Amino acid sequence: MPAIEIVAMTIEHVAEVAAIERQVYLSPWSKAAFESEVRENGFAHYFVALEGQRVVGYAGIWVILDEAHITNLAVHPDYQRRRIGSALLECLIMEAVRRGADRMTLEVRFSNNAAQALYAKYGFVPRGVRSKYYSDEDALIMWLDTLEKGDGHTAARYRRDGS
Ligand SMILES: CC(C)(COP(=O)(O)OP(=O)(O)OC[C@H]1O[C@@H](n2cnc3c(N)ncnc32)[C@H](O)[C@@H]1OP(=O)(O)O)[C@@H](O)C(=O)NCCC(=O)NCCS
Repeated sequence: MPAIEIVAMTIEHVAEVAAIERQVYLSPWSKAAFESEVRENGFAHYFVALEGQRVVGYAGIWVILDEAHITNLAVHPDYQRRRIGSALLECLIMEAVRRGADRMTLEVRFSNNAAQALYAKYGFVPRGVRSKYYSDEDALIMWLDTLEKGDGHTAARYRRDGS
């Protein structure tokens, strides 16, 4: 089985990213939304996990001044529980640190225990609720105040450039 590598998302990856997005989210972002993020949003930084040429996961952040906001993080259902989500999250944490952020936040569905457990492993703590953030559910707001907590080991194993 080919190794997993994490690289910066390019426009060529977007169709596969949007296909995974439709599989894992009830209210998926469109392909056009990802294209706009990659092409036009200077605050946005996206990564994909590749197995060979195939996109098997992706994640992104917006970094604005000292704050990084995770916009999405997903792994193809056939590839979950292989530490790819962890590697992508570590990659986001390292990118946020590299770009000068000192704290990080995200919204997650109240019912999404898997994602909450992943974020908690990296030191994110629940701090607030965004009412009706999703059409059918509230969001839990989680924060990571000390970005150094991610040791980067898993991401380093997967990053092509070794950074
Ligand atoms: C959340 C998600 C990205 C995790 O990706 P993954 O590659 O399967 O996660 P990892 O293998 O790196 O797991 C790391 C930790 O996350 C937690 N976790 C992951 N999947 C879990 C599950 N199904 N149930 C409970 N905990 C889970 C565990 O704590 C796990 O550590 P462990 O294996 O030592 O128990 C993946 O389940 C996914 O894409 N879900 C759909 C999209 C989504 O909900 N994204 C988050 C939006 S905020």
